[in-house]
Amino acid sequence: MAMNEEWLDPAAVKSRLEKDLQELTDKGNAYDKKQWQAMNYSLMAGGKRIRPVLTVWTGLSLGADADELFPFAEALEMIHTYSLIHDDLPAMDNDDYRRGRLTNHKVFGEAAAILAGDGLLTYAFEVCGQAMEEAAAGGQTELLKRQARAVSFLAQMAGPSGMVSGQMVDLESEGRTIGLDELTYMEISKTSRLLEAALVMGGCLAGAGPEQIQSLEEAGEKLGLAFQIQDDILDVTGDEKELGKPTGSDEKEKKSTFVSLYGLEKARKEAVKDTEEALARLAFLEGSYGRAVRDLVKSLVDRRK
Ligand code: IPE
Ligand code: IPE
Ligand code: MG
Ligand code: MG
Ligand code: MG
Repeated sequence: MAMNEEWLDPAAVKSRLEKDLQELTDKGNAYDKKQWQAMNYSLMAGGKRIRPVLTVWTGLSLGADADELFPFAEALEMIHTYSLIHDDLPAMDNDDYRRGRLTNHKVFGEAAAILAGDGLLTYAFEVCGQAMEEAAAGGQTELLKRQARAVSFLAQMAGPSGMVSGQMVDLESEGRTIGLDELTYMEISKTSRLLEAALVMGGCLAGAGPEQIQSLEEAGEKLGLAFQIQDDILDVTGDEKELGKPTGSDEKEKKSTFVSLYGLEKARKEAVKDTEEALARLAFLEGSYGRAVRDLVKSLVDRRK
């Protein structure tokens, strides 16, 4: 398959993504400026953008059109950013730095940070809805079906059976020792689910079949476990400046993590094993975009930020 290689450079994906996100949040009237400013502040603080890049590359590797992938990739990055704003609140992890800047609530106040998160979560679905309206207006019923699958999956992964459930278990785990089953449930829910959404939405928008979607779901689950374990490791061994967020946060909040329960060495082994399992399930992704997905997944287990 001859392929458009325009998006192989992650910087190209990030630049389009950030241009769109900037435009989407460059809004507000005389009364509600703070709402949009607070949303824009965290969204444009420069995260790694792993989830949207995975959506775009997975979709392209399976034959989707870039313009059809970006709105959903952007929606996912908004949802991820909302999850971070709320995660940092005093009532949750109580952290002061994120993405190299003061956290949202430190700058805008707690109430505004809650609303910035609410705004990003809801706006994400507005952006998906608009893309779907366009497809409907253009009579693109096949695309509309693919989009419906993608948005339904996204909602499931983000909501009370997905990331939100994991965040609840994370809070409930503070100050006690949990077993491996509960720990795994927590890490998969709070972190794997949005990474699954990243991969599976790419698949849905490309019209992938049930077996491929299943592989993407399993890959996302394993990738998320590896990703969260590495995040837990960096909370102990990382450099605050490089990370852009505080280290020692988990110990301060008495969190149960893979590291607190099993130690650094076992955590590292588990993250490497989960990464290999994720890669095996991504082997079917073809072409240079498939390779790019696997290279990114491989690199994450050694990341320092
Ligand atoms: C941080 O996610 C929260 C976790 C799920 C561990 P990222 O490490 O992807 O954060 P950003 O988007 O780069 O800031
Ligand atoms: C949070 O895990 C994952 C989310 C769903 C936000 P952490 O609480 O460990 O994430 P960081 O370390 O603050 O980024
Ligand atoms: Mg947390
Ligand atoms: Mg946190
Ligand atoms: Mg962490």
